[in-house]
Amino acid sequence: MPTLLPILVYPHPNLRRVANPVQEVTPEVVTLVDNMIHTMYASNGIGLAAVQVDQPLRIIVLDVSEAKDSPHVFINPEIKIVGGKQTSEEGCLSVPGFFESVERAEVIRVLALDRDGSQFETEADGLKSICIQHEVDHLDGKVFVDYLSRLKQSRIRKKLLKTRAAA
Ligand code: NI
Repeated sequence: MPTLLPILVYPHPNLRRVANPVQEVTPEVVTLVDNMIHTMYASNGIGLAAVQVDQPLRIIVLDVSEAKDSPHVFINPEIKIVGGKQTSEEGCLSVPGFFESVERAEVIRVLALDRDGSQFETEADGLKSICIQHEVDHLDGKVFVDYLSRLKQSRIRKKLLKTRAAA
């Protein structure tokens, strides 16, 4: 049975950690991947980065399908921007309750390892492209809130700190 992992909430300092590359896709890494997928679905998210579950490794999982039946795993993902721009309302499991407009590249290419440790390359656009860019930001210690105005950032920070204090 997969385990539900606790998700760090912004502005937790560990969300700022830069994740390390996975040296080898060991059984422990596969277990982490499976727990991340389980946690993402259980939290109704479309993406999750290992940094968000306090594991500073370069792993992201996502599923942007309607049916929630096609999880994608990217280990050590490297993004190359192909072109275009798109803007959409983004949310984040580490920033519960907030949705804000963020501009991203439209088309990207991604080089990564899959759950079996095999290298693959894929092109993504639309929501999948946005999601990959958002999750890879987490691996570099970045949160979508960083793209917002100072005022919005401090409003979100204060609100979430208050919620945490009340919990
Ligand atoms: Ni996020």
